[in-house]
Amino acid sequence: MTDRNQTKESPEKKAAGIYAASLVKDGDAVGLGTGSTVAYTIKELGRRVREENLNIVGVVTSYQSEAIAIEAGVQLTTLAQTPRLTIAIDGADQFDEKFFAIKGGGAAHTREKIVSMSADRFVIVSDPGKQSKTLSVAVPIEVMPFAKELVMTSLKELGGEPVLRAAAKKDGPVITDNGNFVIDCAFGEIEYPADLAAELSQIPGVVEHGIFMNVDAVVIGKADGSVEVIEK
Ligand code: 5RP
Repeated sequence: MTDRNQTKESPEKKAAGIYAASLVKDGDAVGLGTGSTVAYTIKELGRRVREENLNIVGVVTSYQSEAIAIEAGVQLTTLAQTPRLTIAIDGADQFDEKFFAIKGGGAAHTREKIVSMSADRFVIVSDPGKQSKTLSVAVPIEVMPFAKELVMTSLKELGGEPVLRAAAKKDGPVITDNGNFVIDCAFGEIEYPADLAAELSQIPGVVEHGIFMNVDAVVIGKADGSVEVIEK
């Protein structure tokens, strides 16, 4: 999983993030994901707004992206005002050959899933390290605090190894932007992501899991600044 504390520039993430901003057209309503890769996209969209008079509105997926978008000068709206988006752009923790992805390293996957499902096209921006034949990183699962024990037990019954995500600069668990906990659950190699996704959705108290099945394209940035775009 991504080191959330990393502050150094990543040329791969930068290449992917900036390229993805070029996919946005005048008049688009854009879903703005969360994380260090899509932060490059949001900043580049801000540059295009200022320098190219690009006319767009964005819907953010976290307080973090809200702050970046405001700083960049990207006009924001809500799903209540703009229920259908042209495109959503976001990072991922891992994606496989069949365009399944795991997200939620930043604990924002519930809003990210709502926003990406509200878009006509969902594009992942990534560095090459997140590409994998099969999904295998721990699946982030946002959980109502009241349901923690039941969810932990249910995940173990599914063969998972659940760990309550601890906060970095606060005693106790991470609290999401929605006021919930996050459990990271390792399942080894996930051969059938859609089946696991269905099982996770059935557990009472699970708000949303981090398995995404709606990815349309992936932009992979390279260290030399080039990108590879893979379409589903
Ligand atoms: C946040 C996410 C992020 O998009 C994912 O963790 C990738 O982050 P980064 O671009 O910083 O590597 O899912 O919940």
